[in-house]
Amino acid sequence: MRDSETAWRGALYGPEGFFSRGAVPADHFRTAPLIGPELAEALLVLLDRVDFALGRPARLDFVDVGAGGGELSAAVRALAPGPLGRRLRVTAVDIGPERSLPGVRWTRELPSRVEGLLIGHEWLDAIPCPLVTGPHDDPWLARWWPLEPGWRAEVGAPRDAAWADAVSRVRGAALAVDYGHLRADRVAGRYRSGTFAAYRDGRQVTPVFDGSCDLTAHVALDACAEAAGGDRVLVSQRDALAALGLTATAEGTGLAWLESAARASRVAELRAVGGLGSFGWLLHGVGVPVSELLPPLPAWQP
Ligand SMILES: C[S@@+](CC[C@H](N)C(=O)[O-])C[C@H]1O[C@@H](n2cnc3c(N)ncnc32)[C@H](O)[C@@H]1O
Repeated sequence: MRDSETAWRGALYGPEGFFSRGAVPADHFRTAPLIGPELAEALLVLLDRVDFALGRPARLDFVDVGAGGGELSAAVRALAPGPLGRRLRVTAVDIGPERSLPGVRWTRELPSRVEGLLIGHEWLDAIPCPLVTGPHDDPWLARWWPLEPGWRAEVGAPRDAAWADAVSRVRGAALAVDYGHLRADRVAGRYRSGTFAAYRDGRQVTPVFDGSCDLTAHVALDACAEAAGGDRVLVSQRDALAALGLTATAEGTGLAWLESAARASRVAELRAVGGLGSFGWLLHGVGVPVSELLPPLPAWQP
């Protein structure tokens, strides 16, 4: 019998895999880039801070790893203001089929060097892991998710390695945005059934490893943070968006009432407690202090 990580990888990225065949989140679930331009607007505020801290280099990167349909890359490209936009190189990285987006470079491999901002938006949850049942002697579990007999878990080591590799290529900042959990809650048994799950056509379904559904699991973002190391913060999307100027108030936007109400409702969805607002933002500064990118914020509590 194939091991669970191999089966998961084949089901998503093998020849008949879910993502290899071109499935994008827009067809099956709703991610923040699909809601509207507001996430891109906030990331451009963050990118401008990174750019300033780097001394406004001649070429500035925005790299979107696990880009899916490329909506985030396309929005950042379209919304980047003049002077920054002229120096900006937007790269979408995905192992699924290439998409043609104006002004966006599409690749299957991470660039070797990134000067600017690298983001993995709901990327790490799509990296397959071993699925195990306790008791188990895996060293990652011993450190991050000690298991009582009968508890189920995902061994997050492949995500840690992927994130550490991505961050090691960056000068500027690297940001992982995802749903996830923290060690204290894992140890306390809050996730004793594990978090492995499957989605198809917008609904949660029973996981099958045949390429017919997305397979995912929450991310141990605290473990990813330690693996990549360096200066970093782990905060909620709700707080991070507010710190980047995205609040639900319609005032001062200069938009007509109907449009400003629609915008306020999109921002509220991005910041909803228990929903997208409870996603973790793991932000590393590389050659740039994180304190120049975000003000002090409460620690993430998923
Ligand atoms: C859940 S989707 C997220 C898409 C998009 N970022 C969003 O939020 O709408 C995860 C994406 O990560 C891609 N992916 C997974 N592992 C990857 C890797 N090692 N390199 C590049 N892309 C990868 C998948 O093909 C898939 O498109």
